Amino acid sequence: MSVWLLTGGAGYIGAHVQRALTASGRDVVVFDDFSTGLERKVPMNVPVVQASVTDVDALVHAFTKYDVDGVVHLAAKKAVGESVEHPLYYYRQNVGGVMSLLEAMDIANVSSIVFSSSASVYGTPTDVPVTEDSATVPESPYGETKLIGEWLVKDAAQTRDLSWVSLRYFNVAGAGGDELGDTGVFNLIPMVFRALSRGERPQIFGTDYPTPDGTCIRDYIHVTDLAEAHVAAANFCESGSAQHTLNVGRGTGISVTEVMDVVSDVIGRDVNAEAAPRRPGDPPITVADPTRIETLLDWRAHKDLSDMVASAWSAWQAMRD
Ligand code: WQD
Repeated sequence: MSVWLLTGGAGYIGAHVQRALTASGRDVVVFDDFSTGLERKVPMNVPVVQASVTDVDALVHAFTKYDVDGVVHLAAKKAVGESVEHPLYYYRQNVGGVMSLLEAMDIANVSSIVFSSSASVYGTPTDVPVTEDSATVPESPYGETKLIGEWLVKDAAQTRDLSWVSLRYFNVAGAGGDELGDTGVFNLIPMVFRALSRGERPQIFGTDYPTPDGTCIRDYIHVTDLAEAHVAAANFCESGSAQHTLNVGRGTGISVTEVMDVVSDVIGRDVNAEAAPRRPGDPPITVADPTRIETLLDWRAHKDLSDMVASAWSAWQAMRD
């Protein structure tokens, strides 16, 4: 049975990836500094190392202690707005973290990595849908740190035996259980829930975009489908010398207005969203072309937006009970 170390395994996405990797028959070690992750999300029978991903010695010690075969690297700061205000912090944590991790993997001879990247490496895409060969022109320090992380992984593999898969996440939503909801309120669906919980009207950031209904279009993917993509990537790494960068999305574009309509259906009343000014930096349309991951890893998403909203709403309510 292979052993995989999961950095950021106490986070929203990390907790889902941990459960999927465990269910795939692997032993999992969670490595998290709990700066944003929650220890309660880690099952009692999963070993935890509380340390920073920038700490090479702590990483080498964990790799050796648990005889680690591969790493899924999720630990990173991911708030786009925060990255604009604190770019050096984001570079230290996100780029420094990948550098430390790769150094430690080389020392401990760990030869597989699945790297959490992001659709934000594309910036404002010129292609719709976006393929992995589309131009990568990130428009935030966060997106830049993710692209540099991809380069570091690719370049490290030129110097040693390293199998790698970088996964470019599109818009992640939903929950695999009421205890696994997204506790960060940085994205559309939890922001809508927060407005409703406050008795406020959810806001639509821009209604004059060049799209069919004037609102931004995104590619939403259920977090449990995303977690399964990590299992498929780990399988691919273990099957031989993987070296691939892959979009993780459904290939289906959904507008903000359409999301509001699904939320209204799920909660049983009109959310009564209101038009608000555009948010700087929002591309009108970002939709994945998932052909490559479907072909290479034989993986595809199964859940739709209703599944995402219903599971997220149930978890949101459970968090507030
Ligand atoms: C989605 C759409 C908003 C809130 C995010 C992360 C990025 C990457 C992909 C991880 C936009 C609109 C939002 C609201 C709104 N994730 N919106 N009212 O910006 O597409 O990208 O997911 O790597 O890092 O930033 O996601 O959920 O913030 O916004 O109208 O109250 O919803 O303008 O068009 P985004 P988002």
